[in-house]
Amino acid sequence: MTSPLSILILAAGKGTRMYSDRPKVLHQIGGQSMLSRVIDTALQLKPAFIGAVIGHGREQVKAETQRPVQWIEQVEQLGTGHAVACALPYLPQDGMTLVLYGDVPLIDTATLHTMIAASDNGTNTVLLTDTLDDPAGYGRIVRENNGHIVRIVEEKDALPEEKAICEINTGIMVLPTQKIAEWTSQLKNANAQGEYYLTDVIALSVAEHIPVIGVCLSQHHLAAGVNNKLQQSELERIFQREQANHLMKAGVTLADPNRFDLRGTLTCGKDVFIDINAVFEGDCVLGNRVQIGANCVLKNVQIAADTVIKPFSHLENCVVGNNAQIGPFARLRPDTVLADNVHIGNFVEVKKSTVKENSKINHLTYIGDSDIGANTNIGAGTITCNYDGVNKFRTEIGDNVFIGSNTLLVAPVKVGNGATTGAGSVITKNCPENELTVARAKQITLSGWARPVKK
Ligand code: UD1
Ligand code: CA
Repeated sequence: MTSPLSILILAAGKGTRMYSDRPKVLHQIGGQSMLSRVIDTALQLKPAFIGAVIGHGREQVKAETQRPVQWIEQVEQLGTGHAVACALPYLPQDGMTLVLYGDVPLIDTATLHTMIAASDNGTNTVLLTDTLDDPAGYGRIVRENNGHIVRIVEEKDALPEEKAICEINTGIMVLPTQKIAEWTSQLKNANAQGEYYLTDVIALSVAEHIPVIGVCLSQHHLAAGVNNKLQQSELERIFQREQANHLMKAGVTLADPNRFDLRGTLTCGKDVFIDINAVFEGDCVLGNRVQIGANCVLKNVQIAADTVIKPFSHLENCVVGNNAQIGPFARLRPDTVLADNVHIGNFVEVKKSTVKENSKINHLTYIGDSDIGANTNIGAGTITCNYDGVNKFRTEIGDNVFIGSNTLLVAPVKVGNGATTGAGSVITKNCPENELTVARAKQITLSGWARPVKK
């Protein structure tokens, strides 16, 4: 029989060294707040109970972290032991309790599974330790000659010989749930920081002959905490490099894995190529042989096979068909759906529009709230005037249409199949199928006209 797993995430701290108006745990790694990342990892362990202890900025933390956790308020931050004690009214009576931290964002399920197994359903106390060349700032693990852990000493309370210990407390531990009330009630704050230290429960466990098992961390970053912007950036790069490695192992070619950022999910087909400085946000899907040029930003996009996104393009909430060519310097805004073989060129913006097969919009154009048919060519400088200052209207352009350069299409307006508009036209009425419509002043020549001369 396995007994219930409870998880407590400590997240009440202010994060003074972030020098930010935002609570520390809301700062992001990989486009997601550190706290929501830890919660998502915790949820993968399928706990019976999950609680987050919050204090500084707690209303903001709750509002921005849409996750199924029990919020536990710690109004005054009196130490990690006090934070855990605040959770007592919510904790189940038995099983094991895993303590995590909202500012230790990269902890992984593999490490936590090892710790949970070592707990043996709450029979043992389990501590995640790491060995550092420079242990400064951390609690040190004090072991007996036989190797057994006896207690943790905080750096500020440590004797010089204790400070020399390189094995440190990551803070992450698994406690027998039924012991938490008793142990936290025995904590004293007679220490250098005047805090109720959770770390003091280790000595209490030893005193009660409940074995303390140390699990050693496999990689430092997994339990690395974020106290300042430098540490945040270090973990961000480690996190990004891991995502890049994962994609490369799955066959994606990255021009430079150190210049790749994924803030969400990216699903790639075969032989995908991604050039430097691409940023992917939300959920992106790239089909086989898709190529992403340098300095592109893509958010919530679906791009089908063989399509090329050329450098400096920005795409958001849109769908692109097969074999399309987008950019350079293209902007596809939300609710744009492009069919196969569509070409969108430089300085073209498309918003809330559909474009059917083989149509081309190659230069300096705004297409908004429009439906464009197949095999249509939109000339340079075309603008759909979709907004009268109050309301928005649609433009409908058929198949095989040729829109002359610098045409203004004042919506609502329709251009029939096979129609042509003359360059420079201001189209305010529907254009019939298969005809040329010109709406501009006729060119005249005044013969015999003389230039003025200076008086
Ligand atoms: C703690 C450990 C130390 C360990 C280190 C690892 C204790 C006493 N010490 O030290 O052994 O090496 O973590 O990083 O536990 N928190 C609350 N409420 C509080 C106090 C803290 O929620 O009243 C939260 C903080 O927001 C933070 C975490 O607990 O996320 C750790 O607290 P902090 O005061 O930073 O502990 P350290 O001094 O770093
Ligand atoms: Ca502290």
